[in-house]
Amino acid sequence: MIDPREKPLLRALNGNASERPPFWYMRQAGRYLPEYRSLREKAPNFLTFCYTPELAIEATLQPLRRFHMDAAILFSDILVIPDALGQAVSFREGEGPVLEPIRTRGELVRLGGRDVLAHLEPVLVTVRGVRQGLPQGVALIGFAGAPWTVATYMVEGRSGADFVTVKRWSEEDPEGFGQLIDLLVEATGSYLLAQIEAGAEAIQLFDSWAGVLSPQGFERWVIEPTSRLVSRIKERFPDTPVIGFPRGAGKLYEPYVLNTGVDAVGLDSDVSLDFAVETLQSRVAVQGNLSPVALLEGGKEMEDAATHILSRLSRGPFVFNLGHGITPATPPEHVARLSELVRSWPRL
Ligand code: CP3
Repeated sequence: MIDPREKPLLRALNGNASERPPFWYMRQAGRYLPEYRSLREKAPNFLTFCYTPELAIEATLQPLRRFHMDAAILFSDILVIPDALGQAVSFREGEGPVLEPIRTRGELVRLGGRDVLAHLEPVLVTVRGVRQGLPQGVALIGFAGAPWTVATYMVEGRSGADFVTVKRWSEEDPEGFGQLIDLLVEATGSYLLAQIEAGAEAIQLFDSWAGVLSPQGFERWVIEPTSRLVSRIKERFPDTPVIGFPRGAGKLYEPYVLNTGVDAVGLDSDVSLDFAVETLQSRVAVQGNLSPVALLEGGKEMEDAATHILSRLSRGPFVFNLGHGITPATPPEHVARLSELVRSWPRL
């Protein structure tokens, strides 16, 4: 047995450069894989799929068999937290998530009073099962949505909204909206600690909608709750690395890295490599940031873009990844080609 901390992903997240950077992909499991689409038919809906350990374990492991990434990411969703808090959540085919919205301080009484961890026990069973089935050297990443991003779904009630409702509530009644954020920090913290106890070796916090806030809003609703979550994790598990992904944060990536306590930061595809090297990688490990569109299209342009990222970022602590998730229309052959290129770096 190798020391688990020698796993390439964990070495990188702990601040070490390596000649061949570790890699995994956001949304590496999912609809672009035919074997996922056929497995998905075994559950009547997406949440039931997430809560059936046998199916979720298999979905987690499917992409590793094809592409041999350095990490598995737990198969689940960020919206299991609102579901566990008692909000009605459903996923509709072709439409994405639909939630019964919570839009005022008074409506917060609909949440809470429930045993979040009891509800999420099937996900923890999945974590234990995946950890047992992992190939040597592969690390298991647990995850949750960051409070701001989960709140946007809870308030807007669906994806693709313009964020007017959630921004208005957070600006007009910051104290009431802050109670929702506090509830999320609490539930998400307990859930992540339980994932680590069950076998997750690193954590990623998805803040997919961090980019829609003003600098003041970003400070209050992204940096502040994230730093509370990171502190809670570090108090109990100081050696478990945390990756923050404040997608779309632009220049605010810098205060995010300085003030949240994350060990690594996920870079979206708009982050310039100069800024990444000079301002971010000098402080934390970086992860990213090939465009999912380049992966969708494949070919020489994809290879050139990946090579460029590898040559700029692999001198410091770096995890190769995309700037956002793999899209459903992506040909698996493109993922195979990209993985081969990264695995044989710097020889190819
Ligand atoms: O491989 C992995 O990355 C692990 C599993 C995973 C899923 N969702 C599975 C999923 C992870 C890490 C997520 C995170 C997630 N979920 C985010 C953050 C990352 C991001 O993309 O910004 C967000 C915002 C969600 C919320 C969510 N879940 C939406 C908006 C949708 C609908 C859009 C879509 O892609 O269909 C989902 C559904 C979802 N989550 C699917 C999968 C595989 C597709 C549903 C299905 O297969 O039936």
